Amino acid sequence: MKIAVAGKGGVGKTTVAALLARSFAAKGLGVIAVDADPCACLGSALGLPRELQSRLEPISGMADLIKERTGAEKGLRHLLPAQPQGGRYPGTVQRGTPRHTPPPPGRNR
Ligand SMILES: Nc1ncnc2c1ncn2[C@@H]1O[C@H](COP(=O)(O)OP(=O)(O)OP(=O)(O)O)[C@@H](O)[C@H]1O
Ligand SMILES: [Mg+2]
Repeated sequence: MKIAVAGKGGVGKTTVAALLARSFAAKGLGVIAVDADPCACLGSALGLPRELQSRLEPISGMADLIKERTGAEKGLRHLLPAQPQGGRYPGTVQRGTPRHTPPPPGRNR
């Protein structure tokens, strides 16, 4: 069985996940607790010793694992379609290109 605990920020996801993991483990079930939060603190909620917590590596830092399991690579550009002919996506500004700022009212262009 896999259980995903999700929801908006600060509503108690990590606390619930830790309590579920501890409850199932106390019943003798094998539990693998996975914290997918880049700012991982499930180890703390589980009450793991600080030394052990400091050795945990967040999944978000495991680029090779993420690529292997999902095919996704780091960076937004991989989510965008091929760049359209003629330069840029509509409504975007090329990096390094100064935005056009209209002059204040009353000043010549
Ligand atoms: N049932 C509850 N009653 C009161 N406080 C709670 C309850 N559940 C969690 N909290 C407290 O609310 C705070 C946020 O909880 P938690 O870190 O579990 O939320 P989260 O959804 O994982 O947050 P984040 O989105 O930042 O990861 C913590 O200080 C936690 O101790
Ligand atoms: Mg959390």
